[in-house]
Amino acid sequence: MADPQAAYKQEAGERAAALVQPGMAVGLGTGSTAIFATRRIAERLRAGELPGMTGYPTSERVRAEALRLGIPLLPDDLPRPLDLTIDGADEADPALNLIKGGGGALLREKIAAQASRRVVIVVDETKLSERLGTRRALPVEVVPFGWRSQARFLEEAGARVALRAGADGAPFTTDQGNYVLDCAFGPILDPVGLAARLGQRAGIVAHGLFLGLATDLIVAGPEGVRVVKREDG
Ligand code: A5P
Repeated sequence: MADPQAAYKQEAGERAAALVQPGMAVGLGTGSTAIFATRRIAERLRAGELPGMTGYPTSERVRAEALRLGIPLLPDDLPRPLDLTIDGADEADPALNLIKGGGGALLREKIAAQASRRVVIVVDETKLSERLGTRRALPVEVVPFGWRSQARFLEEAGARVALRAGADGAPFTTDQGNYVLDCAFGPILDPVGLAARLGQRAGIVAHGLFLGLATDLIVAGPEGVRVVKREDG
């Protein structure tokens, strides 16, 4: 693979796919790293290594790809807990707290992560950060009704706020038909406090702070692949 970053993403994704076992229900994350895990899971299914395994896609994009690859899927209402979710991240700190939602799938990704016994995050090392918010804006999913009020609320909370646009310049809409506000806070000193504040605001459906959810981080880079486990995970 010519692009080293893509090669690292593939290494991380495929390492995570090796954790899937027969009979498991597995959350399938969204993004250019998690897709390598999904593809490897499909190869293992075809090779007969994963009888009874089912997937739970975190976006319509991943659903389409999983169906194309022949991965059996759980119903959307999620009738059982997930054994494992494999997903990417936009930023990961040393405590395995994350910013997610660069692909706009944050709500379904958080539903899968909160329903999972184990959450394995796959990244290349450009995603590592000492403090969340340093490298990426925080995606916040808002219902279109009254969205400008949420934008003002987020600005008052200290962010520079941009309504995410799609390729055609119109507002990007999530799989739920909502908008995403990308909120540049800079380094976030109190992620727990910010998450609590965002969680209380009507009109905010989800935010990209994933705190205390990741149990394992698989990081790939020029030095190889390493696995970091959350201390209490
Ligand atoms: C999707 O909404 C995101 O949370 C992705 O998981 C995240 O943006 C990582 O994507 P990449 O692996 O493509 O960087």
